[in-house]
Amino acid sequence: MKSIIITGGAGFIGSHVVRLFVNKYPDYRIINVDKLTYAGNLANLKDIEDKPNYRFVRADICDFDTIFALMKEEHVTGVIHLAAESHVDRSIKDPFTFARTNVMGTLSMLQAAKLYWESLPEKWEGKRFYHISTDEVYGALEIEHPEILFTEQTKYNPHSPYSASKASSDHFVRAFHDTYGMPTIVTNCSNNYGPYQFPEKLIPLFINNIRHRKPLPVYGKGENVRDWLYVVDHARAIDIIFHNGKIAETYNIGGFNEWKNIDIIKTIIKTVDKLLGRPEGADLDLITYVTDRAGHDMRYAIDSTKLQRELGWEPSLQFEEGIEKTVRWYLDNQEWLDNITSGEYEKYYDDMYKNR
Ligand code: NAD
Ligand code: DAU
Repeated sequence: MKSIIITGGAGFIGSHVVRLFVNKYPDYRIINVDKLTYAGNLANLKDIEDKPNYRFVRADICDFDTIFALMKEEHVTGVIHLAAESHVDRSIKDPFTFARTNVMGTLSMLQAAKLYWESLPEKWEGKRFYHISTDEVYGALEIEHPEILFTEQTKYNPHSPYSASKASSDHFVRAFHDTYGMPTIVTNCSNNYGPYQFPEKLIPLFINNIRHRKPLPVYGKGENVRDWLYVVDHARAIDIIFHNGKIAETYNIGGFNEWKNIDIIKTIIKTVDKLLGRPEGADLDLITYVTDRAGHDMRYAIDSTKLQRELGWEPSLQFEEGIEKTVRWYLDNQEWLDNITSGEYEKYYDDMYKNR
């Protein structure tokens, strides 16, 4: 029997990974370790919270003693590590929190797994530490060279405190393999979209603002390019890589789906207007160009050929289908959005944007 800790399981991507593993593997024990920061929300997991193979533990990944004790108690054989501070704009305001959680938290997870697994007679056998990372560690690509994508060989060149902290955590994971022989895997994925994403990120924020006819703050000229993947396809890739990926390897995950921000924004406006029965283009006037994000990376684009060729993964959804499904989900789940866009978050949002 496998006993797997999934960290950050109450967040956006983590909740999809927990759901997939709990439903697909009834004979695995899935332990969701999450601190429940502003981004963690147990409402994301309502449909699986009573399953017998699922346990939620509220804990901070930086709390080594608690994590180590939990690994021993649950006879943990695998870790899928997603817990992190994940929003670039927050990292610009508060880099310390990103270093603490993303760097020290990952180190605490690694050291707890190392000490626990080394104490067992079979040691590393049947064990796996899978670290989820981002394409942002590779830096930025040029719009003028669309033929160049991030591959697994691209040198790290992070620009934001967020991506610097993720890059550092990736290095620690690889160092634990190279130094101690820990069976690790790292994946670097492109921008995810879909249900349960916290509405500070572009797509859910803009859907919600359009619905309420609030301004849409487009950074700079809206010409930055991101490579979008439906979150369930990321969770499917994580499942395949956790089970069949090669130890010590890196896999890039992405759907070859690059979009300029302004084009995505227009698509979202069109889709929201259609689904709400508003005249086409009724909300285009909400587009508001604001001061650019500091150090804003121009373009991300992932080459996921290795994953597709070696492990047979490919995205299941075309973007047009995925975006309509996503807009529909947010419009149908207004209560979920209302619960997190009130109180503390509302204050943060106002502070963040009043000076832009
Ligand atoms: P998220 O912000 O939605 O969720 C993060 C989760 O981690 C939350 O549930 C939060 O409560 C938890 N958490 C934060 N600090 C913690 C701590 N100290 N201890 C325990 N739990 C803590 O993030 P997400 O968008 O779901 O991203 C998940 C992971 O995937 C991150 O590692 C991120 O870097 C990576 N990633 C994200 C994307 C994306 O587009 N969102 C793309 C590629 C990689
Ligand atoms: O590439 C993977 C990364 O994607 C993940 O590692 C991060 O955790 C995740 O947050 C995401 O980072 P981005 O910075 O690309 O995502 P965000 O949704 O914040 O912004 C997407 C683009 O939209 C980016 O070019 C900035 C722009 N933007 C964003 C917001 C929130 C705006 O123009 N206006 C906005 O209000």
